[in-house]
Amino acid sequence: MSDQETPLLGPRATPFGPKTKQDRLAGYSTHLGIGLFTVLVLSVLIRLPLSVFTIHPVFMTIFVVSISEGISLLQPTHTPEQKAQGLKKHAAIQTISYVAAIIGFTAIFYNKVISSKPHFTSGHAQLGVFVFSFLFVQVLFGIIIAVLPRVYGDQSNAKSLWKYHRVSGYLLLVLIWTTVQLGVRADYMFNNLWSPQLIWLHWLVVVLVGYGVLRRIRFGKWGL
Ligand code: HEM
Repeated sequence: MSDQETPLLGPRATPFGPKTKQDRLAGYSTHLGIGLFTVLVLSVLIRLPLSVFTIHPVFMTIFVVSISEGISLLQPTHTPEQKAQGLKKHAAIQTISYVAAIIGFTAIFYNKVISSKPHFTSGHAQLGVFVFSFLFVQVLFGIIIAVLPRVYGDQSNAKSLWKYHRVSGYLLLVLIWTTVQLGVRADYMFNNLWSPQLIWLHWLVVVLVGYGVLRRIRFGKWGL
């Protein structure tokens, strides 16, 4: 039975609608891009001697994988149950990603100290410091809205702030992937690729993750 409210070809991607087939395909695209990225980074690390430096790319990979998956799982939530469950998983995964970022950041900073190298000299490093600070603000903002909404007045005031957390989250994700792409092009990583041609696979990662995440955004929810 169909009426005017029921799309004949299955659910469509409306601003607040349920997941569609395209959403699912886009989700696979995100997972595939993230998987390819992890394999590419590992393929370089197995060629390098283990050192304090190794901790940086390993934990930054855990960071980027978990932060991207932690966003993807909320894309899109539809029913109140999905929203509540999604929020719980999101908070747990983003906690892991934040801890990984702290470990990765501390390791590279310490590595520069013990090898007496100057800090924050490359574009990757400078953007990395900015991203790390942005991440702190993003996490704090999210925790306060979820756990201490009274800080922003009443519950509905706090709820109305989710849209800013959502939009700044996507901006942060773009900056993180830009930082990471600069990191894999840093001399030490680039020079240890099996072949310089493989760097093109990192462009494929950008396309797969970029398409996957963008396709599942419900811009209608931004309400800006
Ligand atoms: C798996 C992905 C990553 C790889 C392969 C990687 C690789 C590198 C390499 C080779 C360096 C040393 C050369 C340089 O200073 O540019 C470095 C430094 C640095 N990275 Fe990454 N990076 C990754 C992800 C990240 C992320 C996501 C951030 C920020 C959240 C970050 C922040 C930094 C910082 C701040 C430094 C410089 C530390 C200092 O100068 O004391 N990296 N990274």
